[in-house]
Amino acid sequence: MKRIAMLGTGLIGTFYTESLHGLRSRDRVVTVYSRSPERAKAFAGQYNIPKHTVNLNEAVNDPDVDIVVVGLPNNLHREAIFAAVDAGKAVLCTKPLARNAKEAWEILQKVEKAGVFHGYLEDLVYTPKHLKAHQSVAEGAIGKVLWVRSREAHPGPHSDWFWDPSLSGGGAIVDLGCHCIEIGRSFIGKHIRPAEVVCWADTQVKPVNAEDHAIGLVRYANGAIGQFEVSWCFRGGMELKDEVAGTDGSIRIDNFLRTGLEIFSAPGKSGYVAEKAETESGWLFPVGDEVHELGYNAMFANMFDAIEQGKKPIEDFYDGYVVNAIMDACYQSAQSKKWEPVELHEWRGDTEVEPLSAFEEYDRDHWLVKTEIMPGGQKKVILKNKATGSITQRTV
Ligand SMILES: NC(=O)c1ccc[n+]([C@@H]2O[C@H](COP(=O)([O-])OP(=O)(O)OC[C@H]3O[C@@H](n4cnc5c(N)ncnc54)[C@H](O)[C@@H]3O)[C@@H](O)[C@H]2O)c1
Repeated sequence: MKRIAMLGTGLIGTFYTESLHGLRSRDRVVTVYSRSPERAKAFAGQYNIPKHTVNLNEAVNDPDVDIVVVGLPNNLHREAIFAAVDAGKAVLCTKPLARNAKEAWEILQKVEKAGVFHGYLEDLVYTPKHLKAHQSVAEGAIGKVLWVRSREAHPGPHSDWFWDPSLSGGGAIVDLGCHCIEIGRSFIGKHIRPAEVVCWADTQVKPVNAEDHAIGLVRYANGAIGQFEVSWCFRGGMELKDEVAGTDGSIRIDNFLRTGLEIFSAPGKSGYVAEKAETESGWLFPVGDEVHELGYNAMFANMFDAIEQGKKPIEDFYDGYVVNAIMDACYQSAQSKKWEPVELHEWRGDTEVEPLSAFEEYDRDHWLVKTEIMPGGQKKVILKNKATGSITQRTV
């Protein structure tokens, strides 16, 4: 049994606790911290948590606690992680790890120097659909990964602090881009260095000093491209969509909106439908088991198994740091309107990479460019002469 201190009683504190206590889990939140005594008490009552406190240090130093889960606003991650490390506890932090790469690097240094277990709670690489897709890629089902498109878009976050970049670190890029970037890395290969980025970001609709819409490209050292699309002004619910293109196949994933459960309700289903749903009547798109389909269950299982087996989890604070560094480069590119390098204090992946190429030989003298069956039924091949470079076609 793992004994957990939950820091934060907002949306993510709720999802995390429901995941941890779900399905007769043996892991328990034993204390919860909230700055509001009423909220701490109500949350503890709702989830049958024996202790609650408004003192963060009391929660992390509680002798009954093995693991601290940080579910607080982005500006409080560093302080909460430092407190957990000083208490000698394993620490798991929600996304983004920090507001920028400088803060993330300080956090990484702190946990590594202390030698405590650290896990980055990037749930979206643990969704059931992603886990199956990762396995298919690892088994060679789609060949070499060339391009990953990851899109997260909704009508904007649910709390004030997200909209103030001095607290959150930025807009839709920091809030949603962190997910999409790590999804891209997970398919392309986390051992392959992200080299440079180009990014467009703008404030199209909302009256805030942060981007509410952005699109970026992350170019990896082997030539693969991660593309992210994020928005805080997309109407109609929350889209979480991914596409992966490989040399021998492709994958398409819909994680949330319209996943196969659709309900039409004329009078309306009052109350919560799904995260960021905009309507309670008409066509509704609930999600069967939200905490499972968002990856929280598999994520905590991986974290706790890793602690028990003395292994690294799939996602740790180094991953969080790399993501923050990529996002910093995105903000620079959005300003400069140029490709900007991803600056990393330390690169822990491969230093030599094979460039992506999957040339297929047609015969001794030719590369195969393309084969296609034409409307008349004839098969056409397009070839490149290896010696001269000339392109020709044949009907075979
Ligand atoms: N899919 C995900 O992984 C996911 C989803 C949502 C949020 N998050 C992350 O979780 C963290 C919290 O987001 P949320 O959606 O739960 O936000 P929220 O606003 O719903 O909850 C934040 C909690 O922190 C408390 N809080 C706010 N300011 C505080 C302060 N100054 N001192 C102490 N406590 C304070 C609030 O009272 C609340 O309990 C953020 O880092 C966010 O990016 C992750």
